Amino acid sequence: MLQVLVNRKSTVADGICSFELCLANGELLPAFTAGAHVDVHLPSGVVRQYSLCNAPQERHRYLIGVLKDPSSRGGSQAMHEWVQQGHTLHISEPRNLFPLVGDGARHLLIAGGIGITPLLAMAHELARQGADFELHYCFRSPDHAAFLDELARAAFAGRVVLHDDSSTEPSTLDARALLQTPDPGGHIYVCGPGGFMDYILGCAAAAGWPQAQVHREFFTAAPVDPGADQAFDVQLARSGKVFRIPADRSVFEVLDEAGIHIETSCEQGVCGACITRVLQGTPDHRDQFMTDAEHASNDQFTPCCSRAKTPCLVLDL
Ligand code: FES
Repeated sequence: MLQVLVNRKSTVADGICSFELCLANGELLPAFTAGAHVDVHLPSGVVRQYSLCNAPQERHRYLIGVLKDPSSRGGSQAMHEWVQQGHTLHISEPRNLFPLVGDGARHLLIAGGIGITPLLAMAHELARQGADFELHYCFRSPDHAAFLDELARAAFAGRVVLHDDSSTEPSTLDARALLQTPDPGGHIYVCGPGGFMDYILGCAAAAGWPQAQVHREFFTAAPVDPGADQAFDVQLARSGKVFRIPADRSVFEVLDEAGIHIETSCEQGVCGACITRVLQGTPDHRDQFMTDAEHASNDQFTPCCSRAKTPCLVLDL
């Protein structure tokens, strides 16, 4: 855990604040790679993940952008209303679950709204590497678009294509056309709201892009109806112990209470931190982190949110 100072808090668009985080003693922060996020631990006990959006070469600061979500469960609202310049925050070291592919010949970054944050760090890094890339940034209106000034000033500004939904000029992203021809050496990176992601990922799949070349990061979990959830058992392969998972609790919660450690971060199926191997039984996947192919192989699952289709799952724990 790192204790960081909020060195600067700025409003960067309607409902979006950026926070510049530094070490109070002025020392360098742990290095990070483009696409990484940190867990921010708020005083209420709520933990939220925010992507680092500054250039990864910068070691004196981390920059995060936070959209105030009207249906906030306490994270973004606290960041906007409680956290001020000069405050101290506790954060994790950066972790990257959305990395750039090192040997990609071309990179297509597609951001929707606040999804610009990890892709901004990627653009900085790809520009530094002299890589072949393009950043498409879709937003409702310029008032709602964070970091437009920074993008306009950036050395890679010529590689940025803005898609302003409010513009009278036709600038809406035509994802079908953009993705119509899969590029054997190309990689797509997508981040944004759920509906936006579904659309872009659907266009890529329909055009025949291999899943291994399509990378995405969800911010929030897809809604699920827990009404039909049933209890099931999990067995730990190493000890043979069996735990009953009630309909209204997660595998993670039950095991954590029993002192069995599973690493977690988002606790809603979007980050992949808790992925656990499944040795027997069929998971009922509820996460948005793994690919369809990974889901179909049924040999791992996310115990923070996923459940079971069979009466028992045997876990590699
Ligand atoms: S903790 Fe993030 S997917 Fe489980």
